Amino acid sequence: MTNNAFHDLLPAAKAIERELIDLRRKLHQNPELSFEETETSAMAAKLLNDLGLEVRRGIGGHGIVAELTGSRPGPRIALRADMDALPIQEETGLPYSSGIPGKMHACGHDAHTAILYGAAKLLSVRKDQLAGSVRFLFQSAEEINAGAKAMIEQGVLEDVDEIFGLHNLPTLPAGKAATRYGALMGSVDRFELTLTGKGGHGAMPDQCVDPIVAASAIVMSIQSAVSREISPFDPVVVTVGSIHGGASYNVIPERVELTGAVRTFSRNVQETMQLRLQRLISQSAEAYRCEAELRYVQQVPVLVNHNDHVRHVEDAIDHILGSDNRVEAKPVLAGEDFSVYLEHVPGCFFWLGSGPATGAEQAYGLHHPKFSVNEKCLSLGAAVLTAISIQRLGF
Ligand code: NI
Repeated sequence: MTNNAFHDLLPAAKAIERELIDLRRKLHQNPELSFEETETSAMAAKLLNDLGLEVRRGIGGHGIVAELTGSRPGPRIALRADMDALPIQEETGLPYSSGIPGKMHACGHDAHTAILYGAAKLLSVRKDQLAGSVRFLFQSAEEINAGAKAMIEQGVLEDVDEIFGLHNLPTLPAGKAATRYGALMGSVDRFELTLTGKGGHGAMPDQCVDPIVAASAIVMSIQSAVSREISPFDPVVVTVGSIHGGASYNVIPERVELTGAVRTFSRNVQETMQLRLQRLISQSAEAYRCEAELRYVQQVPVLVNHNDHVRHVEDAIDHILGSDNRVEAKPVLAGEDFSVYLEHVPGCFFWLGSGPATGAEQAYGLHHPKFSVNEKCLSLGAAVLTAISIQRLGF
């Protein structure tokens, strides 16, 4: 590719910046939770229709598939954004804050939707530069790790050769991007545990079976799966996120419910964790005379980037943001269901800086009630995704 194909992209993206900011703010005011993205999807679909793309709706929930065909035949790449919000009460105080109590775009999926629309708009007037086609995937329900799977089941990866996606990162200033070869994000398994004992008077533990003591032992014992059974060079996190049991200081309850998550950085380790937890939980429960019922679900695999595709993304970032603004991403055990696409087709997922440009202001992290994005990232993200497409399909 010559540099000419890229050099008009930044000004072109800048020219649609206002539109992207308005769209993102509109979405921000009306956050919709996973698998409830009806209005978000309707808004995006209308805009994509107006660009003259072939648009299908209701794919894997409220997902949208929009197709752009280049002027010459060639491979097909997919670009993906997620659209769902979180059950969080917004505390940013912004004039365009969430208008819906208890719901918030606290992960910036409103920005992702606007960025991908921006890329579609930039590419729709560059069809004559493309040999091949671009499939835009606007996905439901990323936050509950269900949307990617649902879309793939509906065939969205058929005839797709490569896939690319991004996530905003508020701790990285807008204008920068971060890439990583190999594993970028962790696998996520979810578990729910019910411990049943025998309730009764708090003064007579001998006549009861106390599930709270058993739960306490289990919370501690499952950590030993990490500290004593897995190599210290293989990252694993086991987090018990909720414990519910009992209602009074002087009563031994009948049962205790726990939920938690297991995160790993390799497929091999992920595969072993369920059995380890099962053994530690059932034998600890038995030691404390309780019944244990464990429900364990592998939600998403490790997100592993493909080397060639990381290189393509880096090339595009260097053209748009400059190589000085490209950094190596740190690995993180948070999950992202983009990993499910990458199990089917090669591709790359990367971080787009969305934080304060100067670093003077405090950046709140993803999923924080004061999270917000630096809107400069919208046009930059659209330009980078466009550059990736031209990098892969340009001639
Ligand atoms: Ni997110």
